Amino acid sequence: MPRIGHALLALALLAIAAPGNADDDVRATHAAARARTRLLREAGRAIFFDPAFSASGKQSCASCHAPQRRYNPPNALDVQPGGPRLRAQGLRAPPTLTYLDRVPPYDNHYHESEDEADNSIDNGPTGGLTWDGRVDTGAAQAEFPLTSPFEMANTQAGIAATIRRARYAATLRDALGARVLDDDATAFAAVAHALAAFESDADEFAPYTSKYDAFLTGHAQLSAQEQRGLALFEDERKGNCAQCHRSQRGLDGTPPAFSDYGLIALAVPRNARIARNRDPAFFDLGACGPERRDKLGDADYCGLFRTPTLRNVALRSTFFHNGKFHDLRDVVAFYLTRDITPARWYAKDAQGKTLPYDDLPAPYHANINRDPPFADQHPGAAPRMTAREVDDVIAFMQTLSDGYLKTNPYRSEPKRSRASQASAATPR
Ligand code: HEC
Ligand code: HEC
Repeated sequence: MPRIGHALLALALLAIAAPGNADDDVRATHAAARARTRLLREAGRAIFFDPAFSASGKQSCASCHAPQRRYNPPNALDVQPGGPRLRAQGLRAPPTLTYLDRVPPYDNHYHESEDEADNSIDNGPTGGLTWDGRVDTGAAQAEFPLTSPFEMANTQAGIAATIRRARYAATLRDALGARVLDDDATAFAAVAHALAAFESDADEFAPYTSKYDAFLTGHAQLSAQEQRGLALFEDERKGNCAQCHRSQRGLDGTPPAFSDYGLIALAVPRNARIARNRDPAFFDLGACGPERRDKLGDADYCGLFRTPTLRNVALRSTFFHNGKFHDLRDVVAFYLTRDITPARWYAKDAQGKTLPYDDLPAPYHANINRDPPFADQHPGAAPRMTAREVDDVIAFMQTLSDGYLKTNPYRSEPKRSRASQASAATPR
């Protein structure tokens, strides 16, 4: 594989050097760019699986983002261990790395494009990578785990030394220039760049091969239970899940991302198993800090976390930003009864009184989302779904795992104009 990559690059460079007409030049430039991307991806894949980049020597990106689970966490731990002796603990559960190409750059006032939906609506804080949207590019993101003290805990110099020793160092030099690894800062940036190139490989990270994609493109039928689950997922009087976890194609036919990437406060219960939470004065407040630093003390942003995609969610065993839940049934039950039976979800004070929203201090409770399914919940109210309906919604979420089809079914569809797509959209 490396040989083929290098030979292609050499060919592409020859093509650039050779005199020719303008069209040939453009084609050659494109070929060179493709060859460079291929080399970068190859190096990025090798780095992703290489534990040599961690201070412990035992942890790679794949230790927390496991390919066999579509880059979800490999196990059911609330949060993963990290640090030089793998004894440090982070604050959050690793998200899946699939479909990150769909996350828009962070924006305080996000407006969708005309092709996607109604572009006149201010959707509020939206997008950005990580649970609080604090970074915008895969390359910037990769620098965090590489140097975070509770993840791979390495230094810029350590990463640079490791890449120079790696057997695939030549691949990276071929892609980015012979001297790119000479200097620590450019070597570190090259590593991050290669990781980002790997993460942007659509076949690996955005395959759209789930049963639901097969259904949307007419290649499969959903079972009766899955159909019921989809209807409940979309029904505003039932789950209303699709309000945030978008389940329909865009006006231009774009497959649903199962997130609108909005930053929302659901008031997920405090996770007492996270070490930092032993300090009762410590709170992970999402967009207002402490991990994200540009909105520290800005009360409007406290408690907000980015809506995750639900694609491949059934391949996770840990849910929500703090890994508090381990069963999809509990997640759905939380949505249906957060304000009906708060005692089931939140801790109690010394007198045995429930502390509602125990992971968000009272001054920020105004930020908590009260749209359906939370609307009209109060002690004594009836949940919007029966146990059987909850099972149906879970059965539907299980159709969102990739691997049902071999290839992306949207690619073979004829291109549709916006108008014909709107009329052909699946009726709700
Ligand atoms: C110790 C576990 C751990 C390791 C190792 C790790 N990550 Fe992560 N990763 C996480 C956690 C936890 C988050 C969420 C961080 C947050 O929200 O603050 C995350 C988030 C991400 C995101 C953003 C995802 C999103 O939904 O916005 C990307 C991209 C990512 N990691 C890539 C990598 C790469 C590349 C590596 C290897 C260089 C890596 N990770 C190593 C735990 C890990
Ligand atoms: C108002 C927007 C909104 C609605 C409505 C909504 N969600 Fe969510 N969902 C979120 C946000 C935000 C998170 C992350 C919250 C956190 O971790 O603090 C989330 C997280 C999840 C997760 C955990 C995913 C993971 O990777 O950890 C699941 C599963 C989920 N939602 C399913 C549902 C279902 C099922 C419904 C309908 C019953 C629903 N959601 C309705 C915004 C919403």
